[in-house]
Amino acid sequence: MLDVQLFETQDGSHSICAPQWDVSYHSRYGAICESMHVFIEAGLRLRGLVKRELSVFEMGLGTGLNVLLTWREACARNWKVRYAAVEVNPLPMDIVAQLNYPIILNEPQAHRIIQRIHQSPWGAPVLLEKDQFVFSKVRVPLEHVYLPEGEYDVVYFDAFAPDVQPELWTEAIFEKLWHAMAPGGVLTTYSAKGIVRRRLRAVGFEVEKLPGPPGKREMTLARKASAI
Ligand SMILES: C[S@@+](CC[C@H](N)C(=O)[O-])C[C@H]1O[C@@H](n2cnc3c(N)ncnc32)[C@H](O)[C@@H]1O
Repeated sequence: MLDVQLFETQDGSHSICAPQWDVSYHSRYGAICESMHVFIEAGLRLRGLVKRELSVFEMGLGTGLNVLLTWREACARNWKVRYAAVEVNPLPMDIVAQLNYPIILNEPQAHRIIQRIHQSPWGAPVLLEKDQFVFSKVRVPLEHVYLPEGEYDVVYFDAFAPDVQPELWTEAIFEKLWHAMAPGGVLTTYSAKGIVRRRLRAVGFEVEKLPGPPGKREMTLARKASAI
């Protein structure tokens, strides 16, 4: 059983601390704040400017917070979303049940959505919102998962930091994601390390630094060029 603890971040939302790696799943300055800034605002909304049907891939499902925020955004903007996530160490349901995202977001439906995210079977798509939001998750490491060619408009790259999981921040992984992304697709991550940006560039992404979420100066946006 995964040994994890809940803690409250500075915006009041919960995150998870994983003592075996000595890391937390989100910034201590605010889990919801960070996810909104890095993944929803810099990634999803950017692609949503030009597409109303979006295919999203998440590296590291964790709490399901990014799914929840994406679902909320899709409902508010009337977008259709197909969402796929990988996870190797699912959270115990007693921890999931305590997550305070529905309260912090003041979103009555959020409790049902979180339960569905975590109780849905591995490898079988489920509807989180009728005709509008298809969610699927697989319990396969990113290194080994099959990703379809040219599929994803948005990639949330939410692995543990490069010094904790160096095997996930390699050119080989970024190249795999580049191939899995649709032309014009965007990948965002909270890391702004020079080595990360150089590796993303080396496999063909156009890379920008953006202002980071609270507590972090910068983050990274990588785009796959649109087809000519
Ligand atoms: C920084 S946390 C992100 C959590 C999540 N995005 C959230 O908002 O709660 C990284 C997540 O990646 C998962 N993970 C670690 N190694 C992985 C791998 N090789 N393949 C897939 N998931 C992995 C961890 O179990 C953890 O849930």
